[in-house]
Amino acid sequence: MHSSSVLVLVLLGAAWVNAQILSKLTLCSQSDPKFKECLKDAIPKGLALLGAGVPELNIPPIDPMKMDKWEVTAEGPLTFPQTYTNIDIHGHTKGKVKDLDITLTDTDFFLSIDLVCDEVDYQADYVYENAILDGVDYSSKGKTSTMAFNYDSRNNFTGTIIKKDGENYISITKVDVESLGVDDMKFKIDSDDPEVGKKMAKLFNEKWRDMIKETKPKYTKIYAEIYKNEANAFFSKFPVNQIFPK
Ligand SMILES: *[C@@H]1O[C@H](CO)[C@@H](O)[C@H](O)[C@H]1NC(C)=O
Repeated sequence: MHSSSVLVLVLLGAAWVNAQILSKLTLCSQSDPKFKECLKDAIPKGLALLGAGVPELNIPPIDPMKMDKWEVTAEGPLTFPQTYTNIDIHGHTKGKVKDLDITLTDTDFFLSIDLVCDEVDYQADYVYENAILDGVDYSSKGKTSTMAFNYDSRNNFTGTIIKKDGENYISITKVDVESLGVDDMKFKIDSDDPEVGKKMAKLFNEKWRDMIKETKPKYTKIYAEIYKNEANAFFSKFPVNQIFPK
């Protein structure tokens, strides 16, 4: 096939996928007096709908969200550095919106969501080297699964309205994430040394409250980056008046 026909097919395919997604999303009208109420319900449904991502539109999956690497320096209760790779974050597609605020004008966009996720599960490969704490050697590698229950966070998306091919789109310029808390955490560790794995799970299950205090400023920044990419991948595919009809 001629390469320009292939391009036309790809573009038509993407337009078709666009239309499919729009037809499945719950759309909330800006002029609806219950615009915010509508979004409180529509956003979790949208997250679930887009959960697996949309490869045709370059929208990455929401479950799992991916992170390449996460390095924790030797601070706080764990006095050894920790390296996590191939991180899969599960659980955001089951989030519920507790509170929401939105401002949408001809030039600006602001969305503030208080999202509660029943269970967020971080699965990763880990490596701990020279990991000695209170005389116990935790040096090992393997897989970890860290579950956070009732993860509550405030997520602010600040953006501007940009013009592209005569249409207005939202472009997110800044995301601020604040972790409001978790009720409980559970750690499962599949270590190359099962004895060490057991000791580690015990240590983490005892010390997680102090551990997350130390890592909070860093993981909220990483979340902010991931959310910003996700949001822009989505908003750049649909004109404002298609997602939020007037
Ligand atoms: C998010 O926005 C709300 C409402 O403007 C504000 O009260 C809150 O402090 C903001 N949080 C963050 C993390 O920026």
